[in-house]
Amino acid sequence: MATVSQIQRLDKLAIKRYGVPSLVLMENAGRAVAEEVKKSLRGKKKPRVCVVCGLGNNGGDGFVVARHLMDAGIPAKVFLVGKARRLKHDAAINYQILKKMKYPAVECGDTKFRGSEIARADVVVDAIFGVGLDREIKEPFRGIIEAINTRARHVVAVDVPSGLDATTGNIYGVCVKADKTVTFSFPKKGFFRNHGPRQTGKVVVVDIGIPSRLKNGIS
Ligand SMILES: NC(=O)c1ccc[n+]([C@@H]2O[C@H](COP(=O)([O-])OP(=O)(O)OC[C@H]3O[C@@H](n4cnc5c(N)ncnc54)[C@H](OP(=O)(O)O)[C@@H]3O)[C@@H](O)[C@H]2O)c1
Repeated sequence: MATVSQIQRLDKLAIKRYGVPSLVLMENAGRAVAEEVKKSLRGKKKPRVCVVCGLGNNGGDGFVVARHLMDAGIPAKVFLVGKARRLKHDAAINYQILKKMKYPAVECGDTKFRGSEIARADVVVDAIFGVGLDREIKEPFRGIIEAINTRARHVVAVDVPSGLDATTGNIYGVCVKADKTVTFSFPKKGFFRNHGPRQTGKVVVVDIGIPSRLKNGIS
């Protein structure tokens, strides 16, 4: 099990010391989540997915998820909470790939956020915040997380349910209630503390290509 600072250090070392490109980690992460979403969709004749992305790398993972689903013929509607010009670097690259592939994301604040899309989807992918969440959640994120919690049928969280402190298990005011959390490299300590167990649903740990000699220090 890992804390947020351990996982951030691990990712940083993989990138800086071993030269694993951060985009490769993002691709591996998003692809693994897409596979888990497909498992959640088994048996659906005309599956529909909605992917809700934030502006950081967690949102970038969400764009990769959406791309792999759409490439597999599964319609995925992508919402970006915020303006695309404010996306972090790797996330911006994956946003541009989606645009070039004519799978554009809808930029939204609370007014443009379509709760009906959330309600219609068989699976909602929560890619709003991951381990980078560090303060109380305000609008428009708050209302969107509440809409997911009240309207979604099945939620798959990317790495961490948005709103959960993945070290302490405390909540930053509001938090996605996931049915499944697909988390990277290690389960996070906060999944098993305080509010964590109620928010994550089933926890699935996937490998994203962090060199094993770096992972050996954490158990
Ligand atoms: N490349 C990698 O190393 C790597 C590897 C594996 C997985 N990942 C993925 O990337 C995630 C971490 O990415 P990240 O560090 O970019 O963090 P993040 O979890 O994507 O969150 C960071 C973003 O959220 C914003 N934010 C944080 N708290 C907020 C709040 N309360 N209200 C509104 N905005 C808030 C930040 O804005 P400000 O800039 O304004 O603070 C920033 O845009 C992981 O959980 C995983 O999904 C990355």
